[in-house]
Amino acid sequence: MRIAVLASGHGSNLQALIEAIAAGRLAATVSVLVTDRPEAHAVVRARRAAIPVEILPAGHDRVHDGALLMAMLQRYDIALVCLAGFMRMLAGNVVAAYHGRMMNIHPALLPQFPGLHAIRQALAAAVPETGVTVHFVDEGMDTGPVILQQRVPILPGDTEASLTDRIHAVEHRLYPQAVQWFAEHRLTLEDRTVRIAPHTTA
Ligand code: GAR
Repeated sequence: MRIAVLASGHGSNLQALIEAIAAGRLAATVSVLVTDRPEAHAVVRARRAAIPVEILPAGHDRVHDGALLMAMLQRYDIALVCLAGFMRMLAGNVVAAYHGRMMNIHPALLPQFPGLHAIRQALAAAVPETGVTVHFVDEGMDTGPVILQQRVPILPGDTEASLTDRIHAVEHRLYPQAVQWFAEHRLTLEDRTVRIAPHTTA
């Protein structure tokens, strides 16, 4: 299954997907990395893994960007789009074209703490736990149907750095898992509910 990863930053979730594929835990190929930040470390990781990199230039409007992105995804014949720290909202026509075929990972238990700096938001709210969500993307900001969530406790003395490390460790397990379910055709979207079919050994 051909996937595109969209990332703006460090690319640790891209790396987790690459490693899950290499380890045989994920039946997919990262066919392209799309980024809006050519200097992002995600680009280094993609090049190291011989994954083509496409730059989505900044400075145009969302509709123009959407048309460019759609052309890229079609050119690479992408079955699933994985947002992994991609910090730009996508045009509605791209989201609609990839309805049920575009996932995002977010470092909180959505609908808590959507948007930017979710880990900082959780610490500031002094809640006892936060978590990780993998969800299908809809037109809202971090509002799409939830595929998978896991809680992460906030420990006494946690800093943004220490909590980020534990959240990332969970993200790196959850994202490949959700993508593998998609690859196995086990995910169905009924309105806003995601159903996960049991594993079969057929
Ligand atoms: C991840 O923690 C991801 O959940 C978050 O950005 C980070 C990217 O890390 N995404 C969002 O906050 C989206 N709203 P990475 O570049 O190391 O994969």
